[in-house]
Amino acid sequence: MGQGRMGQGRMGQGRMGRSDVRPAQVVRRAAEYLERHGVESSVPTAERLLSHVLGTDRAGIYAREGLTSQEAKLFGRALCRRCVGEPLQHVTGDQGFRRIVLRVRPGVFVPRPETEILVGAVMDELASVADPLVVDVATGSGAVALAIKDELPEATMFATDLSPEAVELARENALSLGLPVTVLEGDLLEPLPADLRGRLDAVVGNPPYVAEEARDTLPADVLAEPPLSVFGGIEIYERLFAQAVDWLAPGGIVAVEIEETAAGVVAKAAAREGFEGSTMRRDLTGRDRVLVARRPHP
Ligand SMILES: C[S@@+](CC[C@H](N)C(=O)[O-])C[C@H]1O[C@@H](n2cnc3c(N)ncnc32)[C@H](O)[C@@H]1O
Repeated sequence: MGQGRMGQGRMGQGRMGRSDVRPAQVVRRAAEYLERHGVESSVPTAERLLSHVLGTDRAGIYAREGLTSQEAKLFGRALCRRCVGEPLQHVTGDQGFRRIVLRVRPGVFVPRPETEILVGAVMDELASVADPLVVDVATGSGAVALAIKDELPEATMFATDLSPEAVELARENALSLGLPVTVLEGDLLEPLPADLRGRLDAVVGNPPYVAEEARDTLPADVLAEPPLSVFGGIEIYERLFAQAVDWLAPGGIVAVEIEETAAGVVAKAAAREGFEGSTMRRDLTGRDRVLVARRPHP
């Protein structure tokens, strides 16, 4: 972005080296700039980037008198990064999820709002289970495991991921949030310690499930994610159900995020491994989002 548009040049300096331009006007100009570069949700994006630069929340932006030249420069740079297609969360380095804020970075999947439904389903299912033992497979940044631990502190949480970058980030997030979750590298449930076999109350996961053939239809923010975190299909669910049978306690559940059109196929895969009573959770638009299936009691 040219300094002449958003920088100090056009703003004029007031007291204390701050621009006289009111925050609402800064946001409006920035949103117009973002729109001209084809960025959607331009006002919330401008607000999020400005609150990141100012180290404040949305209300804090509008309480400010103006931007210093340094803040204006940093804001201009952040807008530029977003305008050339960098995902918003990579520019800010964080993403809110349920009640927590996770550190995110390129190379590890950015948690999406729809995955909060998965956490909600697990919270409901575990409401009557004392001190549950839970594993989040395909944990990425650790979002699901850490949100469950945050909302259900008595749970003992494990998390796994095949990607070393994801494992490193999930461990960092666990440490910085002060939420004890054991993060292990490997395929689905394989890295778990053997003494957990037959004892888990829940296996939870948002595995990669987008068909490779759908690549051309994906939005830019999904294409910016590592392919290992996006592309997959029924095979990963089949393997997960087959493994989970051995690790779950009788009555334990598998809860997985699914693509809206895959509900029937994933439910059949669960039934083939002996799981019972598959139920679906829908998102606000009525699309199937989460499947919950139970390992029967003998
Ligand atoms: C869609 S992302 C979900 C990340 C996180 N759970 C979330 O919802 O934000 C899928 C994750 O699965 C991981 N993954 C892919 N194949 C895997 C496997 N066989 N076992 C464990 N993790 C795997 C990827 O590295 C990626 O972090």
